[in-house]
Amino acid sequence: MCGIVGYVGHRDAYPIILEGLKRLEYRGYDSAGIAMFDGTNLKVSKTKGKVLDLENKSTQENNINGTIGIGHTRWATHGVPNDVNSHPHYSNSGDLVIIHNGIIENYESLKKELLKRGYTFNSDTDTEVLINLIEDVKKNEGVKLGKAVQIALNQVVGAYAIAVFDKNKPDEIVVARLGSPLAIGIGEDEFFIASDASPFLEYTKNAIYLEDEEMAIVRRHKDVKIRKIKDDSLVDLYIQELQINLEQIEKGGYDHFMLKEIYEQPNAIKDTYRGRLLVNEAIIKMAGVEDNMKKFLNADRIIVVACGTSWHAGLVSEYIFEDLARIPVEVEYASEFRYRNPIITEKDVVIAISQSGETADTLAAIKLAKSKGAFVFGVCNVVGSSIARETDAGAYTHAGPEIGVASTKAFTTQITVLTLIALRLARAKGTISSSDFRRHLLELEMIPGKVEEALKSDSHIKMIADIYKDAKNFLYLGRGYNFPVALEGALKLKEISYIHAEGYPAAEMKHGPIALIDEQMPVVVIATKKGHYDKVVSNIQEIKSRKGKIIGIVTQGDKSVKDLADYVIEVPETLESLTPLLTTIPLQLLSYHIAVMLDKNVDQPRNLAKSVTVE
Ligand code: M6R
Repeated sequence: MCGIVGYVGHRDAYPIILEGLKRLEYRGYDSAGIAMFDGTNLKVSKTKGKVLDLENKSTQENNINGTIGIGHTRWATHGVPNDVNSHPHYSNSGDLVIIHNGIIENYESLKKELLKRGYTFNSDTDTEVLINLIEDVKKNEGVKLGKAVQIALNQVVGAYAIAVFDKNKPDEIVVARLGSPLAIGIGEDEFFIASDASPFLEYTKNAIYLEDEEMAIVRRHKDVKIRKIKDDSLVDLYIQELQINLEQIEKGGYDHFMLKEIYEQPNAIKDTYRGRLLVNEAIIKMAGVEDNMKKFLNADRIIVVACGTSWHAGLVSEYIFEDLARIPVEVEYASEFRYRNPIITEKDVVIAISQSGETADTLAAIKLAKSKGAFVFGVCNVVGSSIARETDAGAYTHAGPEIGVASTKAFTTQITVLTLIALRLARAKGTISSSDFRRHLLELEMIPGKVEEALKSDSHIKMIADIYKDAKNFLYLGRGYNFPVALEGALKLKEISYIHAEGYPAAEMKHGPIALIDEQMPVVVIATKKGHYDKVVSNIQEIKSRKGKIIGIVTQGDKSVKDLADYVIEVPETLESLTPLLTTIPLQLLSYHIAVMLDKNVDQPRNLAKSVTVE
């Protein structure tokens, strides 16, 4: 992971890079650094901690200015987070500086060679090895920086998005990518470099996204050229017009991005189905599905690959696809799938789900599935992301930027897209009657209003959070469509509050987890009216007889669970298949409030990063 930013042009680069790093902190936040050339000297400032710490340190120690510079916010892979391991890293001569997002897998053998040639290393990082390799090539082959980077990268195994500059040629930055994202913003006589477009949105709407194995040299007063790293061939430029704006990536008055994103869900879900869900005409229109209808209809099965929250959305889709479209579904952790030698045929449709579109394991699973001839369909949020480009076809979730590390609106919009696809396929296959189809469309259209209704329980949920915030463990139970929601609720709590939580199918409780229940154990039970209600009520009774504390997520007006539970949180009634879109909301709010009360860093929980571009 890690976020990288760079600038070369006519403006003061320092504020651009610093602000850019703040926007990319979701990618990693254990250390940060900046390198700038001020016309005479190369100045580097770096520190363990957040970009704010870097800001304090760099303003105190260095009068940093200049019109060329690079910056980095880190999620440590090689070497603990400390000042020395922070990026940028210099070469031994002190001429070259680099920032890097990714992993150089063969860095140890490269380092051995460089040590033999007299190079020394200050840090434990793979990146310091790479910059010295570049320096070594530059010296020995007598080539310019761009060529040296290219030759060095051809010796490297691993993943990278890098930006390098030479203090003796302070008009250009060399960038390259393999496996980690890199966008180039094109202004008037200026270039911006970043892991995504957010750092340069206020300066330009024109961007190029480098593809894997491509590199570019951005120079003042010159046009950018992109080349293949392997064979040096020129690549056609594809300049995209950015669709996101600054407002979408700011907190907009909320204390945290997570809370803002929870509250954005009614609109995000509307944006997801807008133009696709046409209730009056009783149709669903999705180009990516229409164009590949035969592949979907002839599929023996759908295999869903994803990680984390996206995997939970995949689990929900298993119920939806099987229930509505009668297509067998397997849901796989991308990280397991990619190494499992799975049986994949040309008659499989693989759906890859990813908010960021950059998750390394999901990307690898896609490549594997494609190599076996499967048709791969992507469900991504980030437009132009690696997964969106690597898949054969796809549908964006249109949730808008999700900055909080804990996924919220990504989950509900992924479920919305997957529901639309399942309904479209069900209609095409004739596995749903026209009246049932229409009922689903009508209900789905009402979901944003119902999410708004569910959000009204916020202060009640906050009160419940206050009561249980000191619990050491939580159990989350759900059945059917709401079993994945239980898993998601547990993940939300553990990742932002660091409280241990487990999600289980409610009926599995008696096969083990019931032993955990005592008067200290809060159990969040999703017990909406439709979907095994009576059975879940029996599970609640079992918990009650063992003195567990019960927080029920129930349908508005429910009486039975209310009588049994310590607290209930109501959500509006809807079709069973759509309940996850509502039952998720209180679970997001519960974990949010607990984490805030425990004074945790909600948007940037420890050890995590928003987009996991390493294995
Ligand atoms: O960007 P992706 O959807 O591929 O990310 C997958 C997971 O890393 C992500 O969902 C992670 O589990 C979140 N922190 C959960 O809130």
